[in-house]
Amino acid sequence: MSPRLRRTVAVTGSASGIGAAVRARFEHSGTRVVGVDLHDQEIAADLATDEGRRAAVADVADRCDGRLDGLVACAGIGPHVSDGGRIVSVNYFGTLAVLDGLLAVLADGEAPAAVAICSNAAGLTPRDSDLLEALDAGDESRACRRAAEVDGATTYGMSKLALARAVRRRAGDWGGRGVRLNGVCPGPVDTPLLAGSLDDPTMGPLVEALPVPLGRRAAPPEIASAVAFLLDPANGYVHGSLLWVDGGSDALIRPEAV
Ligand code: NAI
Repeated sequence: MSPRLRRTVAVTGSASGIGAAVRARFEHSGTRVVGVDLHDQEIAADLATDEGRRAAVADVADRCDGRLDGLVACAGIGPHVSDGGRIVSVNYFGTLAVLDGLLAVLADGEAPAAVAICSNAAGLTPRDSDLLEALDAGDESRACRRAAEVDGATTYGMSKLALARAVRRRAGDWGGRGVRLNGVCPGPVDTPLLAGSLDDPTMGPLVEALPVPLGRRAAPPEIASAVAFLLDPANGYVHGSLLWVDGGSDALIRPEAV
């Protein structure tokens, strides 16, 4: 296949926060971006639903003529959202549907790579084995039922832990197809999602209590910078990894978790 002049990267959740910063960073460097969000982007789709997932995958494939060079799965909702089922549907099932749905299109791209935005909540949230099992098994109905029984922080943390595991589980298959897949685990980042958590009477104090060695929250471009590193063909041997961009919280709290 002939090389193209511009790389094309698809970004979900590109209307706000980290996704918008990723979009801005790639556009600034001349990369073509296809944005997917509930509204205000090239593709409007609700990744909580099968129909929205299928439409998003088909529309991205169509717009990049079947050859995608990068994918950033960023769309997500926070622990303060009262509908726990929606948290797992967007953060886990929607994210994986887009990643897996676009693997073939990525495999035809140039030096292709994808990044899933996880969270340092993956390692810091006390585990709920029932929910984790349902997520690992890909059982959305069961996961939604369990999510309705536990609190939002647990649901959010398990959705991100299962997503981080799913990234690592795909290393063999994706590597064999020539597509790199990595995850980023941010700590608190100043976005509307974090503002929603801080405003929540239960979540707010938990977020405020998280010790951050660097003593501040991240700005969205700092996460976009880590994403750009992982998508850069110059870093073509980085695959199946999780990159913590959390000011040191995970290392502080779980120094032996390697
Ligand atoms: P944000 O709320 O600023 O942006 C999220 C975007 O996802 C929004 O534009 C929203 O419309 C979109 N989205 C939500 N539900 C969707 C759906 N059903 N279908 C399609 N699009 C949908 O949030 P932020 O902070 O930029 O979050 C981005 C990712 O980063 C999320 O996956 C979040 O869990 C993760 N994250 C955020 C942290 C933070 O402190 N802000 C910390 C760790 C991870």
